[in-house]
Amino acid sequence: MVEVYAVKIDQTIDSARFGRFMACVGQEKRDRIQRFYRIEDQQRALIGDILIRFLLCNKLLLDNNALIFEKTEFGKPFLVNDHKIHYNISHSGEWVLGAIHYLPVGVDVEKIQPLDYQLAARFFSEAEYFNLNNKEGQAKLEYFYEIWTLKESYIKAVGKGLSIPLESFSININEAAITVETIKGPGKYYFNRYQLDQGYKVAVCAMENTFKERVKVINTDELYDWALLA
Ligand SMILES: CC(C)(COP(=O)(O)OP(=O)(O)OC[C@H]1O[C@@H](n2cnc3c(N)ncnc32)[C@H](O)[C@@H]1OP(=O)(O)O)[C@@H](O)C(=O)NCCC(=O)NCCS
Repeated sequence: MVEVYAVKIDQTIDSARFGRFMACVGQEKRDRIQRFYRIEDQQRALIGDILIRFLLCNKLLLDNNALIFEKTEFGKPFLVNDHKIHYNISHSGEWVLGAIHYLPVGVDVEKIQPLDYQLAARFFSEAEYFNLNNKEGQAKLEYFYEIWTLKESYIKAVGKGLSIPLESFSININEAAITVETIKGPGKYYFNRYQLDQGYKVAVCAMENTFKERVKVINTDELYDWALLA
């Protein structure tokens, strides 16, 4: 089953904890985090890495120091130790999400905020754009983020980044299922949406239609307890 985990960062992580978490990630990640100007971006990137390490160590019964990560040519991070476990991370606003499965998986969380619908004109398929324009007000805004997160989760599951143009495939939401239509026909991917927090949209995309019913929320204290021993 696809498992989805979430951490809420609703207050600044104090410097002692931040330091401990930093000591648990690789040098390359540390350098990247330190290059972020805003503390919020630093925290989101750091907690994303910590969450995945915490989950993988618990699942695979490995030491944190034993985990080896690499990135594909398209930038998707993966675990080198065990090719039968796949994961993906997403962060937005106060939330950091991690999805885990034995097949490739993609997750996306987005904070709902007012936006310029010109984005949709550029990145949505014709059908998605048509459906969007049949809606108004809050329903339109929610639909935009629903499609956006589903599209991003698909892109992230496939793992080829924006080399797959966002307007080149179309997400279909109907009562029976959510499907994706690509240039080559229907994609062999499955989707699930989660209601995590008002004001956010969450979508997960996987190659098997078995999703855990709920997102499991993990708090930063639990991560810190783990980090102290890692
Ligand atoms: C980079 C991208 C994979 C996701 O970007 P995003 O939605 O801004 O960011 P998220 O927080 O959801 O995901 C970031 C994480 O995805 C992972 N990731 C990076 N490249 C990836 C790839 N090719 N495939 C899957 N996952 C990837 C990383 O773990 C990254 O976390 P990190 O930066 O802390 O290391 C890519 O899809 C992108 O740039 N999208 C553009 C967004 C956009 O314009 N969307 C318009 C939709 S209408």
